[in-house]
Amino acid sequence: MDVLNPTEKENVKKAAELLLSSKHAIVLTGAGISTESGIPDFRGKDGIWKKYPVETYGTLKSLLTNPSKFWKMAEDIAPTLFNAKPNPGHYAITYLEKMNIIKAIITQNIDGLHQKAGSIIVYEVHGNINRFTCLGCGASYSKDVILQKTKKEKSLLPVCDSCASPLKPSVVLFGENLPNFEKYMSIDLAKKTDIMLIAGSSLEVAPICDLPIYTLNQGGKLIIINDEPTYLDERSDIVINQKTGIVLPLIVEEIKKIKALNGSKTQN
Ligand code: APR
Ligand code: ZN
Repeated sequence: MDVLNPTEKENVKKAAELLLSSKHAIVLTGAGISTESGIPDFRGKDGIWKKYPVETYGTLKSLLTNPSKFWKMAEDIAPTLFNAKPNPGHYAITYLEKMNIIKAIITQNIDGLHQKAGSIIVYEVHGNINRFTCLGCGASYSKDVILQKTKKEKSLLPVCDSCASPLKPSVVLFGENLPNFEKYMSIDLAKKTDIMLIAGSSLEVAPICDLPIYTLNQGGKLIIINDEPTYLDERSDIVINQKTGIVLPLIVEEIKKIKALNGSKTQN
């Protein structure tokens, strides 16, 4: 805990206690949880949208009007995304799920690192990078087929076999709707939860940035771990402005300590 100041240490303890007292805690993650795995976030200091402005690269319109530009960005980012490994923050969340302290993970991330870390109940509200969709006929392709295609055709712009329209990764771009199942499940979870642990999100993108409001409106509490302030800090029970890869494992350690102490108390 030496990297943390006394207030942060105290907040780690409080977060552990709050999570242990919860009945239906859930986690909401954003790109910040994966930066310690080498994947840049979007709005942090080295965020993707700084190198690739969102209006030119991140919208459905930009993909439709200039698909090869989009694919250039994808080609730049893809090796990092596909080769990344989970970091201690992801593993701590998996551990909380295994201990049955958290019941589900809602993630805005498309990197699949929660699943790689062994987490089971993960709602990917912004899709993932493992499938591709044809913008013309809706056909779905696996990532491996696309990689073969781009290698074979030596082109940056993969197109559909049956209708020759451009293919896009099954990730949600600005101007697109969220996948229905994940959207409604996450709203339902946010309404039911007593504690939402938010890790590594600027909470700037709708509709996901509204999920914690459902939780607050139903009397639930928020714990925020993010290295920068967010618009919900004032309404949160606990805010820790530190790295998720440091804080989440410390919360797990603290939970283990409390459980061990309670176990030894009941034995006496
Ligand atoms: N620990 C804690 N916080 C971190 C860390 C870290 N190791 N690394 C970065 N952060 C913080 C950043 O300072 C920033 O506040 O995490 C936050 C990440 O915010 P965004 O980059 O906005 O990512 P996210 O909230 O997931 O964005 C939502 O926006 O562009 C879209 O579709 C994209 O899913 C994404 C959505
Ligand atoms: Zn097609």
